[in-house]
Amino acid sequence: MVDVRGMSGGKQFRLGLLGSGKGSNAAAIADACASGQVPAQVAIVISDEAEAGILQRARERGLPAVFIAPGKLRVKLDEAAGAAYIRALQEAQVDLVVLAGFMRILKGEFLRVFAQRVVNIHPALLPAFPGLEAWKQALEYGVKVTGATVHFVDEGVDTGPIIAQRTVPVLPGDTAATLHARIQEAERVVYPATIAALARGAIRVEGRQTVWQ
Ligand code: GRF
Repeated sequence: MVDVRGMSGGKQFRLGLLGSGKGSNAAAIADACASGQVPAQVAIVISDEAEAGILQRARERGLPAVFIAPGKLRVKLDEAAGAAYIRALQEAQVDLVVLAGFMRILKGEFLRVFAQRVVNIHPALLPAFPGLEAWKQALEYGVKVTGATVHFVDEGVDTGPIIAQRTVPVLPGDTAATLHARIQEAERVVYPATIAALARGAIRVEGRQTVWQ
């Protein structure tokens, strides 16, 4: 049994946000921290894209935001970059690494250092439609319901223990864009709520099962 510990000794629970894109999830999480809905603080925001919206949104909110070059690999961080990400997150003393549209697969040393401390949001109801553009996969498959999944990150792609899911209907006439927008609305609800529970220490992991207490 792994205990995902929340706030201890009155110390504020610290989040490290990683993203490559526009940062709507990161903004929702930062705003939920600022309003007190999530009992945590954003300690650092890191992107592998120098011009990413997520960095802009973080800076607008007065949060530390840094670009760290990902190295020469296309879908992963190379070894030196991985070490730089780990160092930055450790220096910021993060308790939880929150992937918010981070487009690189994290492996090996990173997941050992932050074991059971990395979460991701995926725009489908896992285990259906893992991988890229999950909303398009769902639309093309013809499902009537899809949604968003918050899960722990393990060595696979979108395979870690599921913490929370929120459903979204697929409506007649939906396009990839309208469905994605509806899923992102759901993400902005379920992700902050799940991070709040993690920060409170209210989630226990037992193998693949996560238990909300
Ligand atoms: C989200 O739709 C999330 O599901 C996926 O990447 C997207 C990031 O969007 N993992 P944003 O950068 O949070 O706006």
